Amino acid sequence: MSYKLGVIGFGNIAKAIITPLFEQKLIQPKEVICLVNSEKSFQNIKKFYEYDVDIFHASSDESHLIWKCPTKLLSIKPQQLETIEEIKNERNSDIIVSILAGISLNKLEEKFPNHKCVRAVTNIPITIRSGLTAISWGDEFSEDEKNFVKRLFENSGKVFEFSEQYLDIFLALTSSSPAIIALIVEALSDGGLNGGLSKKISEELVLDMILGTILLLKDSKITTADLKNMVTSPGGTTISALRVLEEKGLRSALIEAIIAATNKSKEFG
Ligand SMILES: NC(=O)c1ccc[n+]([C@@H]2O[C@H](COP(=O)([O-])OP(=O)(O)OC[C@H]3O[C@@H](n4cnc5c(N)ncnc54)[C@H](OP(=O)(O)O)[C@@H]3O)[C@@H](O)[C@H]2O)c1
Repeated sequence: MSYKLGVIGFGNIAKAIITPLFEQKLIQPKEVICLVNSEKSFQNIKKFYEYDVDIFHASSDESHLIWKCPTKLLSIKPQQLETIEEIKNERNSDIIVSILAGISLNKLEEKFPNHKCVRAVTNIPITIRSGLTAISWGDEFSEDEKNFVKRLFENSGKVFEFSEQYLDIFLALTSSSPAIIALIVEALSDGGLNGGLSKKISEELVLDMILGTILLLKDSKITTADLKNMVTSPGGTTISALRVLEEKGLRSALIEAIIAATNKSKEFG
């Protein structure tokens, strides 16, 4: 059987993208070839990965086989990009799908001149199939090719198509912000701890409160302002809390955080 998909870097995010495709039988494990760098990852995947994919070291003789695949998922870390050397194929229509944070289409096209390149920005909830992925196309993709690439991500979350100029802000809002949310959960839980609750109970309450609030906002289609007004009574506890946050500049800090992440992403590109 010939390989349909080559995965350059079979780490956390690549597994999150590929595994649902196997589960849904959209592609067979034997149609996929994967590369990793270290002996440890190689052995771990051989021993523990639930599907029997062909996996090789990046330095092995077999690694060149990846370049025979019509589509490659590039899923190394951005700083590892320089370790990858393109091997030209006789076809001119091969595709590289890069999930590398901040690496522009221009850079990809320079690095892989014999490939059509597409960028996908995704986020960590993809590992539980709740990902958000933005795709930005290089030149000359047919509708069939676009559908194939979109299908890679559709099984693990929602997919959006954006022109490349919006990928930096998309990354800041969706890829970096899970860390901001984690920090907020941690800080609110610390507030509970300070009030005498155990860390465990405090964190459980905060997580369920956030989940409930999000569901309320999504399901009842009320605006954030409506919700704020609903729980803020005159002279009450909530307005006391909100006043502190305004004093400390939380709103501005969050906006600035998104601007900083966007600018950093632009710098990488
Ligand atoms: N983590 C996130 O929140 C997140 C979210 C969205 C997108 N991304 C993007 O997703 C990409 C992958 O992130 P990750 O978290 O999945 O990283 P990861 O778990 O470290 O996976 C990277 C993989 O690349 C392999 N690798 C390194 N050098 C290689 C080479 N020369 N040839 C072939 N394989 C090589 C590594 O092998 P070894 O393990 O053997 O070193 C590993 O399997 C990054 O570019 C990141 O920007 C990450």
